[in-house]
Amino acid sequence: MLRWLIATLHLLALPLGLGAVWARNRALRGALSADGLRRVFVADNLWGVAAVLWIGTGLLRAFGGLEKGAGYYLHDPVFYAKMGLLAVILLLEIRPMTTLIRWRIALGRGASIDTSPALALARISEIQAGLVVLIVFAATALARGLFL
Ligand code: HEM
Repeated sequence: MLRWLIATLHLLALPLGLGAVWARNRALRGALSADGLRRVFVADNLWGVAAVLWIGTGLLRAFGGLEKGAGYYLHDPVFYAKMGLLAVILLLEIRPMTTLIRWRIALGRGASIDTSPALALARISEIQAGLVVLIVFAATALARGLFL
């Protein structure tokens, strides 16, 4: 039962995360009015929720004895490829995360924000969306032991 629930949550993070990071990209390219910024922040929040779901449920599946066991995954090079791609996504996230936190704080204080990095953040979000798609290729190969 737990195995089924955790696997479902892990998969549901995919439409949520991919949709959110794409929506963040689109919103950052649009007019950054109060409404536009609200769209950026909502998409950013959902992207954060997806990351927590992916990592939380993924670690439980791999190391919580829910699937094939830690030994299986730690011996499959595709697992390291999947984790490597995830690490790149997380490293790329440093700039959007710190910038958007600064924007949220400034707007909360009623101060103005410098939106000049918006296009760069949109490009980063686009690259992250592409990396998520690559992770799906790795995940499905991993589940089937394709490169073992
Ligand atoms: C710490 C991060 C993660 C860990 C430890 C992890 C671990 C796992 C594990 C153990 C499975 C089950 C594989 C099996 O059936 O043997 C799985 C499946 C899957 N994961 Fe992850 N995962 C992580 C992040 C992600 C991310 C970021 C994505 C985004 C695309 C993702 C997409 C998938 C998909 C689509 C499957 C289903 C594969 C299939 O059944 O064909 N995972 N993951």
